[in-house]
Amino acid sequence: MSESEELRTHLDPARLRELFDLKGNVYATRGGAFEEDIYPPFAHLRETGPVHEGIPGPLVGFHGAAVFQGLPEPDRPHYSAFDFATCDAVVRDSTNFSSSSHVPGSEEALHESSILNMDGERHHRYRTLVQPSFVPKKAQWWIQNWVQVTVDSLIDSITDAGAADLNVEFFAPIPLLTICGSFGVTIPEALDIRAAVTSDGLGLDRFMQIVHPIIASRRAEPADDLISVLVEAEVTHEDGTRQVLSDNEVLGFAFLLLAAGSGTTWKQMGITMMALLQHPEWLERVREDRSLLRGVIEEGLRWMPTDPVFARYVVNDVTLGGVDIPAGAVLHVCFAEANRDPARWERPDEFDPSRPLQSHLGFGGGPHICIGMHVARAEISTAIDALIDRLPGLRLDPDAPIPQITGMYERGYSSVPVRWDR
Ligand code: HEM
Repeated sequence: MSESEELRTHLDPARLRELFDLKGNVYATRGGAFEEDIYPPFAHLRETGPVHEGIPGPLVGFHGAAVFQGLPEPDRPHYSAFDFATCDAVVRDSTNFSSSSHVPGSEEALHESSILNMDGERHHRYRTLVQPSFVPKKAQWWIQNWVQVTVDSLIDSITDAGAADLNVEFFAPIPLLTICGSFGVTIPEALDIRAAVTSDGLGLDRFMQIVHPIIASRRAEPADDLISVLVEAEVTHEDGTRQVLSDNEVLGFAFLLLAAGSGTTWKQMGITMMALLQHPEWLERVREDRSLLRGVIEEGLRWMPTDPVFARYVVNDVTLGGVDIPAGAVLHVCFAEANRDPARWERPDEFDPSRPLQSHLGFGGGPHICIGMHVARAEISTAIDALIDRLPGLRLDPDAPIPQITGMYERGYSSVPVRWDR
């Protein structure tokens, strides 16, 4: 069966839509359906702060239950930071701000044993094991093994239609099948993996059922993929001894990478493509000169990052932006508003890819900066390049309602309806 036929057979459109519907159940605990524009209240908080007591959701009018980094944590005090200087300093300071909520002495849950929730030396030792697979010069490895074939097959399956909702038919499967492919997970199993990593722990059995046998098979015979990198990796402990990762450690890594790799980039692809469709002069310029796409993607990440807020646990009493914050508090770091700080960017609310490139917090910063950022950039640019090449006259569907961005802790479009000339 060709990849394109396999995609058509196994990627059930209704299930895909359900799993990637920001307004549906899957995203409910991340406030996916929240419709208010978060930027005006965020700007007000930065101007009247830059640090406030409270949680970003309720501070901007979202009062639903939320499960995200640093949430819900009902027994801790909560604070939020909104300007670039504070947010940037906090993510670089792992002495005063920790990524771990783990209470010493208690058993670590699977998600707690991932690098996202580790600190200091331990974080460095484990992150270093996979970092070589994510450096810029590995982008071609990702593109040639998994991204390009998925992008081409998906376009093959829509090209005759002349119209599509790119969000679900095109963007959602690309990062999902890329990260699943790198873990040896087949196309028929990919949607089960997505369901498992978004189930707030409920789908762990199915996750183990799929990933455990792959670990065993790669231990017996490694292949040219990420799961083989993990099973062969040797961690150096504090006392200098070296040891291959245990199955549980590989599973912890796998869970984080499969969740983060499949959950973010499709939304950022939609945000970037919508920005181009709504700024047709930029779509034209990119069509003429593909080297401009890199700047467009970075500007999209600055202007509208799909994950606007992450959190840290406060280790020592600190004073930030004139506000005293006690040890034990959760500090929410609002990357999205930091990225619109007028102290760093002129006309920060405008999408303007011609502005000088400077670092932003769309992928975070400091030791936890997104490990998958070069993969994400490669996925977005391969996808948009292919759309421009293969769908002539690509434009927003004038007959469809204008798509709106929604979401509190995870943000994106519910649809990206387009037409092209057949
Ligand atoms: C546009 C897409 C993406 C965005 C906006 C994004 C955003 C982020 C952010 C803001 C962080 C930092 C979290 C913190 O400081 O606590 C992060 C961490 C991380 N991301 Fe991404 N991400 C994206 C794509 C990916 C992809 C494709 C992968 C995997 C292939 C990935 C894997 C990770 C991992 C493993 C971490 C934890 C790193 C660590 O703690 O050392 N991300 N991401």
